[in-house]
Amino acid sequence: MKKLVLASGNPGKLREFGQLLAPFDFEVLPQSAFDVPEAEEPHITFVENAIAKARHAARLTGLPALADDSGLCVPALGGAPGVFSARYGGEPKSDARNNEKLLADLAGVADRRAHYVAVLVLMRHADDPQPVVTEGEWHGEIIDTPRGGGGFGYDPYFLVPGTGFTAAELPHEEKNRFSHRGKALAQLIERLRLGM
Ligand code: IMP
Repeated sequence: MKKLVLASGNPGKLREFGQLLAPFDFEVLPQSAFDVPEAEEPHITFVENAIAKARHAARLTGLPALADDSGLCVPALGGAPGVFSARYGGEPKSDARNNEKLLADLAGVADRRAHYVAVLVLMRHADDPQPVVTEGEWHGEIIDTPRGGGGFGYDPYFLVPGTGFTAAELPHEEKNRFSHRGKALAQLIERLRLGM
Protein backbone atom coordinates (compact mmCIF):
# COMPACT_ATOMS: atom_id res chain seq x y z
CA MET A 1 0.00 0.00 0.00
CA LYS A 2 1.13 3.57 -0.71
CA LYS A 3 1.47 5.71 2.39
CA LEU A 4 -0.40 9.03 2.44
CA VAL A 5 -0.04 11.49 5.29
CA LEU A 6 -3.11 13.39 6.46
CA ALA A 7 -2.33 17.00 7.40
CA SER A 8 -4.74 16.97 10.34
CA GLY A 9 -4.88 15.66 13.87
CA ASN A 10 -8.62 14.97 13.78
CA PRO A 11 -9.28 11.24 14.48
CA GLY A 12 -12.72 11.39 12.80
CA LYS A 13 -11.19 12.69 9.56
CA LEU A 14 -8.41 10.09 9.74
CA ARG A 15 -10.94 7.28 10.02
CA GLU A 16 -13.17 8.64 7.24
CA PHE A 17 -10.37 9.36 4.76
CA GLY A 18 -8.67 6.06 5.67
CA GLN A 19 -11.77 4.02 4.86
CA LEU A 20 -12.55 5.86 1.64
CA LEU A 21 -9.02 5.78 0.25
CA ALA A 22 -8.16 2.17 1.17
CA PRO A 23 -9.64 0.83 -2.11
CA PHE A 24 -7.11 3.02 -3.96
CA ASP A 25 -4.26 1.31 -2.12
CA PHE A 26 -3.58 4.28 0.15
CA GLU A 27 -2.72 3.78 3.79
CA VAL A 28 -3.68 7.08 5.43
CA LEU A 29 -1.44 8.04 8.35
CA PRO A 30 -1.83 11.07 10.66
CA GLN A 31 0.90 13.70 10.51
CA SER A 32 1.30 13.27 14.29
CA ALA A 33 2.80 9.82 13.58
CA PHE A 34 5.72 11.71 12.00
CA ASP A 35 5.86 14.44 14.67
CA VAL A 36 4.73 17.04 12.12
CA PRO A 37 3.61 20.17 14.00
CA GLU A 38 0.47 21.98 12.84
CA ALA A 39 1.16 24.19 9.82
CA GLU A 40 0.57 27.94 9.80
CA GLU A 41 -2.71 28.91 8.08
CA PRO A 42 -1.98 32.54 7.27
CA HIS A 43 -4.12 32.88 4.14
CA ILE A 44 -7.58 34.28 3.56
CA THR A 45 -8.74 31.61 1.11
CA PHE A 46 -9.48 27.95 1.87
CA VAL A 47 -7.49 26.69 -1.10
CA GLU A 48 -4.33 28.55 -0.08
CA ASN A 49 -4.52 27.22 3.47
CA ALA A 50 -5.18 23.64 2.29
CA ILE A 51 -2.18 23.84 -0.06
CA ALA A 52 0.02 25.25 2.75
CA LYS A 53 -0.99 22.39 5.06
CA ALA A 54 -0.48 19.65 2.45
CA ARG A 55 2.89 21.06 1.35
CA HIS A 56 4.08 21.33 4.96
CA ALA A 57 3.16 17.69 5.70
CA ALA A 58 4.66 16.42 2.41
CA ARG A 59 7.89 18.35 2.97
CA LEU A 60 8.41 17.12 6.53
CA THR A 61 7.53 13.47 5.82
CA GLY A 62 8.72 12.95 2.23
CA LEU A 63 5.33 11.32 1.54
CA PRO A 64 2.29 12.31 -0.53
CA ALA A 65 -0.05 14.40 1.63
CA LEU A 66 -3.74 15.18 1.87
CA ALA A 67 -5.11 18.32 3.54
CA ASP A 68 -8.52 19.87 3.91
CA ASP A 69 -9.75 23.30 4.87
CA SER A 70 -13.35 24.24 5.47
CA GLY A 71 -15.67 26.84 6.89
CA LEU A 72 -18.93 28.75 6.59
CA CYS A 73 -19.41 31.66 4.16
CA VAL A 74 -22.25 34.17 4.48
CA PRO A 75 -22.67 36.37 1.37
CA ALA A 76 -24.41 39.15 3.37
CA LEU A 77 -21.25 39.34 5.53
CA GLY A 78 -18.87 39.50 2.58
CA GLY A 79 -18.10 35.78 2.89
CA ALA A 80 -17.33 35.85 6.65
CA PRO A 81 -16.66 33.86 8.80
CA GLY A 82 -14.78 32.15 5.92
CA VAL A 83 -11.33 30.86 6.84
CA PHE A 84 -11.84 32.31 10.33
CA SER A 85 -14.84 30.02 11.00
CA ALA A 86 -13.19 28.03 13.79
CA ARG A 87 -12.21 31.16 15.74
CA TYR A 88 -14.84 33.67 14.65
CA GLY A 89 -15.86 34.42 18.26
CA GLY A 90 -12.22 34.77 19.41
CA GLU A 91 -9.69 32.63 21.29
CA PRO A 92 -9.85 30.01 22.63
CA LYS A 93 -12.06 28.62 19.88
CA SER A 94 -15.64 27.96 20.94
CA ASP A 95 -18.64 26.88 18.85
CA ALA A 96 -20.97 28.71 21.26
CA ARG A 97 -19.12 32.03 20.91
CA ASN A 98 -18.79 31.60 17.13
CA ASN A 99 -22.54 31.12 16.79
CA GLU A 100 -23.27 34.01 19.12
CA LYS A 101 -21.16 36.33 16.97
CA LEU A 102 -22.68 35.04 13.74
CA LEU A 103 -26.22 35.74 15.01
CA ALA A 104 -25.22 39.18 16.30
CA ASP A 105 -23.70 40.03 12.89
CA LEU A 106 -26.90 38.87 11.17
CA ALA A 107 -29.31 40.75 13.46
CA GLY A 108 -31.69 42.70 11.23
CA VAL A 109 -30.21 41.22 8.06
CA ALA A 110 -32.88 39.81 5.71
CA ASP A 111 -30.55 37.75 3.50
CA ARG A 112 -29.79 34.69 5.64
CA ARG A 113 -28.17 32.57 2.93
CA ALA A 114 -25.01 30.73 3.93
CA HIS A 115 -22.91 27.92 2.54
CA TYR A 116 -20.27 25.61 3.88
CA VAL A 117 -17.13 25.14 1.78
CA ALA A 118 -14.58 22.34 1.90
CA VAL A 119 -11.38 22.21 -0.14
CA LEU A 120 -9.24 19.08 -0.39
CA VAL A 121 -5.67 19.10 -1.67
CA LEU A 122 -3.66 16.00 -2.50
CA MET A 123 0.06 16.59 -3.20
CA ARG A 124 2.22 13.84 -4.59
CA HIS A 125 5.29 15.55 -3.08
CA ALA A 126 6.14 18.94 -1.60
CA ASP A 127 7.14 20.44 -4.96
CA ASP A 128 4.18 19.01 -6.89
CA PRO A 129 3.27 21.71 -9.46
CA GLN A 130 -0.17 20.22 -10.07
CA PRO A 131 -1.79 19.02 -6.85
CA VAL A 132 -5.26 17.47 -7.04
CA VAL A 133 -7.65 20.15 -5.74
CA THR A 134 -11.37 19.55 -5.20
CA GLU A 135 -14.05 21.71 -3.64
CA GLY A 136 -17.54 21.06 -2.29
CA GLU A 137 -20.28 23.50 -1.25
CA TRP A 138 -23.39 22.95 0.85
CA HIS A 139 -25.99 25.71 0.70
CA GLY A 140 -28.50 26.61 3.40
CA GLU A 141 -29.67 29.46 5.58
CA ILE A 142 -28.98 30.65 9.10
CA ILE A 143 -31.85 30.52 11.60
CA ASP A 144 -32.00 32.27 14.99
CA THR A 145 -32.97 29.31 17.19
CA PRO A 146 -30.67 26.26 17.38
CA ARG A 147 -32.06 22.80 16.67
CA GLY A 148 -30.55 19.31 16.86
CA GLY A 149 -27.80 17.60 18.80
CA GLY A 150 -25.70 16.14 15.99
CA GLY A 151 -22.94 17.64 13.87
CA PHE A 152 -20.73 20.39 15.26
CA GLY A 153 -19.85 24.04 14.75
CA TYR A 154 -22.59 26.06 13.07
CA ASP A 155 -24.78 23.01 12.32
CA PRO A 156 -27.64 23.71 14.81
CA TYR A 157 -28.25 27.08 13.05
CA PHE A 158 -27.75 25.83 9.47
CA LEU A 159 -31.13 25.02 7.92
CA VAL A 160 -30.95 22.67 4.96
CA PRO A 161 -33.49 23.82 2.34
CA GLY A 162 -36.08 21.29 1.27
CA THR A 163 -35.62 19.13 4.38
CA GLY A 164 -36.97 21.33 7.19
CA PHE A 165 -33.98 20.10 9.24
CA THR A 166 -30.86 21.78 10.45
CA ALA A 167 -27.53 20.10 9.70
CA ALA A 168 -27.45 19.10 13.39
CA GLU A 169 -30.77 17.22 12.98
CA LEU A 170 -29.69 15.16 9.97
CA PRO A 171 -28.46 11.60 10.58
CA HIS A 172 -24.69 11.35 10.31
CA GLU A 173 -24.68 9.36 7.05
CA GLU A 174 -27.09 11.81 5.44
CA LYS A 175 -24.95 14.81 6.41
CA ASN A 176 -21.87 13.08 4.97
CA ARG A 177 -23.68 12.43 1.72
CA PHE A 178 -24.85 16.03 1.17
CA SER A 179 -22.17 18.01 2.94
CA HIS A 180 -19.42 20.16 1.48
CA ARG A 181 -16.83 17.61 2.73
CA GLY A 182 -18.79 14.68 1.26
CA LYS A 183 -18.95 16.39 -2.13
CA ALA A 184 -15.26 17.35 -2.15
CA LEU A 185 -14.32 13.81 -1.15
CA ALA A 186 -16.53 12.26 -3.85
CA GLN A 187 -14.73 14.43 -6.42
CA LEU A 188 -11.33 13.45 -5.06
CA ILE A 189 -12.27 9.78 -5.32
CA GLU A 190 -13.44 10.32 -8.89
CA ARG A 191 -10.09 11.90 -9.73
CA LEU A 192 -8.24 8.95 -8.15
CA ARG A 193 -10.39 6.55 -10.14
CA LEU A 194 -9.32 8.38 -13.30
CA GLY A 195 -5.67 8.00 -12.24
CA MET A 196 -5.20 11.40 -10.50
P1 IMP B 1 -11.79 22.68 9.90
O1 IMP B 1 -11.51 22.82 8.44
O2 IMP B 1 -12.13 21.27 10.29
O3 IMP B 1 -10.72 23.30 10.75
O4 IMP B 1 -13.13 23.50 10.21
C1 IMP B 1 -13.14 24.90 10.23
C2 IMP B 1 -14.36 25.42 10.95
O5 IMP B 1 -15.41 25.60 10.01
C3 IMP B 1 -14.92 24.52 12.04
O6 IMP B 1 -14.31 24.75 13.27
C4 IMP B 1 -16.38 24.95 12.05
O7 IMP B 1 -16.54 26.14 12.79
C5 IMP B 1 -16.65 25.26 10.59
N1 IMP B 1 -17.15 24.05 9.90
C6 IMP B 1 -16.53 23.36 8.90
N2 IMP B 1 -17.30 22.32 8.51
C7 IMP B 1 -18.39 22.35 9.28
C8 IMP B 1 -19.55 21.52 9.36
O8 IMP B 1 -19.71 20.51 8.66
N3 IMP B 1 -20.46 21.88 10.28
C9 IMP B 1 -20.32 22.96 11.10
N4 IMP B 1 -19.27 23.75 11.07
C10 IMP B 1 -18.30 23.46 10.17
